[in-house]
Amino acid sequence: MTGPAIVASVLGADYSRLAGEVLDLQAAGVDRIQWDVMDGRFVPNLTFGAAVVGACRPYVDLPFEAHLMVEDPDAGLAEFVSAGCGTVIVHVEACKHLHRTLSTIRDLGVRAGVAVNPSTSLDFVPHVLDQLDHILIMTVNPGFGGQEYISAMEDKVSEARELADRSERPIQIEVDGGISAKTAAGPWRAGAELLVVGSALLNHPSGKQTATEEIRQVLAQASSLT
Ligand code: DX5
Repeated sequence: MTGPAIVASVLGADYSRLAGEVLDLQAAGVDRIQWDVMDGRFVPNLTFGAAVVGACRPYVDLPFEAHLMVEDPDAGLAEFVSAGCGTVIVHVEACKHLHRTLSTIRDLGVRAGVAVNPSTSLDFVPHVLDQLDHILIMTVNPGFGGQEYISAMEDKVSEARELADRSERPIQIEVDGGISAKTAAGPWRAGAELLVVGSALLNHPSGKQTATEEIRQVLAQASSLT
């Protein structure tokens, strides 16, 4: 497991200046940008597509990951890779043939991730390990930012960590939803090295940099205590 990385979700960003927001997040010291792609069907919300991601790509050097909360993830995989995403994450709940979808993502030359909703178990993971680079454990029900962190998901984070370590493949474990300076230590200690943060970063009263620094301090303390 690598050191903790803060992945900024732009779901709650100011869409009238999205490239500026991504620049601000880079300046604030985040490690990666997550694009929450929503189709209004898999989840009630509708956000952005590959064209918006691609428009922001030239402004920053940060890795981009696409979190596809869509009914038909196979339909747009290549577009998100062309838009500059180095990781594409699909929901197991939306895939008819997950092994094939993950294999297609890897054939496109990027890292393949699977996301699981709070009620979804990891029973399928051993059957797709050879095609997996990334497991995203949802710590809220998908569709909206600003929701409360579901701490019961930490057991699933630990389970995913054990599966990844046993596979001896560099599979990264990520959590997404309700992550802030108050909640970040739990999933980190449970085995998540990527922490997606949206509203706690974008809406922090003292700004994105302070928010980022506060979370890094919490993670550093949590690391020193383990
Ligand atoms: C839910 C989204 C959110 C977002 C982060 O579908 O995936 O979890 O990325 O939102 P916050 O950090 O505001 O919970």
